[in-house]
Amino acid sequence: MRSNEASRLARNRLWMGLDDCNNVDDFRELARRRLPGPIFHYIDGAADDELTKDRNTSAFADCDLVPNVLAGVEEIDLSTTVMGRRMEMPLFFSPTALQRLFHWQGERAVAAAAQKYGVYFGISSLATVSIEEIGRMGDNPKLFQLYIHKDKALNHAMIEACKAAKFDAIALTVDTIVGGNRERCLQTGFTSPPKVTPSSALSFAAHPQWTLNYLFREKFELSNLKDHVAEGTNVALSVADYFNTMLDQSMDWKTAEAVRVQWGGQFCLKGIMSVEDAKRAVDIGATAIMVSNHGGRQLDGSRAPFDQLAEICDAVGDKIDVICDGGIRRGSHVLKALSVGAKACSGGRMYLYALAAAGQPGVERIMGRLRAEIERDMKLMGAKSVEDLGRSNLRWR
Ligand SMILES: Cc1cc2nc3c(=O)[nH]c(=O)nc-3n(C[C@H](O)[C@H](O)[C@H](O)COP(=O)(O)O)c2cc1C
Repeated sequence: MRSNEASRLARNRLWMGLDDCNNVDDFRELARRRLPGPIFHYIDGAADDELTKDRNTSAFADCDLVPNVLAGVEEIDLSTTVMGRRMEMPLFFSPTALQRLFHWQGERAVAAAAQKYGVYFGISSLATVSIEEIGRMGDNPKLFQLYIHKDKALNHAMIEACKAAKFDAIALTVDTIVGGNRERCLQTGFTSPPKVTPSSALSFAAHPQWTLNYLFREKFELSNLKDHVAEGTNVALSVADYFNTMLDQSMDWKTAEAVRVQWGGQFCLKGIMSVEDAKRAVDIGATAIMVSNHGGRQLDGSRAPFDQLAEICDAVGDKIDVICDGGIRRGSHVLKALSVGAKACSGGRMYLYALAAAGQPGVERIMGRLRAEIERDMKLMGAKSVEDLGRSNLRWR
């Protein structure tokens, strides 16, 4: 992400706190200061040369918003309906793994922020709190992200747990059939749980607050997996090794359909990038797709979700909820995706930097800033509701 001049001013300060963070880039800087290197680079990094990660955000700069004015925008409505649930704003929390490594409050902080802003909270298969606990928190919409493991009993158990916890939707991730080549993690030796190596020891020692929280607060675990697999909770391994050894590479469309049938509720495929696959998602009865390349963490050189959005919305936008996932750093990015035809946007790093920097107050602050940006920009666009945004509001350069 390109830093603006204000963020450069913040970066030049010797000390930075929550009040100095006004945008995602500021929170990224605060997270960089507060986290040991291996943890920061796990969040911030992506695959290979990280070209796709960069493009996910820069794609939004290749088109411009064209406002309509004099629209009487005193009262406007930011809400949207995704997978049968109303959200109070058109941006939600994508599922991300290992959140208690980023801040001791972990998923609980993000779930509380989702409740406050009335949006979906996405919990990962590799979460550090249980499906049951999240199910008990608040009445905002909840989505569980499923990784298909080789262990079929585990897959079955996670889906049944989602039913019992009354989750609203399951998103099956389809872009991690093998682990991405995340070279920052190779350099830092990042594993789950974290291992102290000669190169990482200094970094853990230099961040005593994080290290003390990790050592003396609740014991780290992958709550939804620990009764089935030791890897990730008691046996340290890299995320790429986890994907390569624990996940089922034979997963195919039949597997996806079987999950939908067992689940029986709102069902999303996360990581759809082609029109062909979007149409197949409709055919197997999915009710949503997340157009996503996993934040550039898997296939580097893959197209950006925003670049691919128009053709997917044209093909299936009237049959299924299309969500634009990844690269979102500004409210204007959300407005552009909605103008193309997305029902909503979602993101990971946009809130993970804030979680790592300042826990729940951090996540709430960045979500508040993004909400304010969406609201302000909709007023400036002359849009009273998200339905007022359309392709006529956009021009590509
Ligand atoms: C640290 C981190 C962990 C992630 N863990 C998962 C995961 O467990 N399951 C999943 O489907 N996607 C995971 N993702 C991908 C996100 O759900 C989302 O697709 C991605 O972050 C979007 O890109 P963005 O970070 O630019 O918003 C993860 C992303 C990050 C940054």
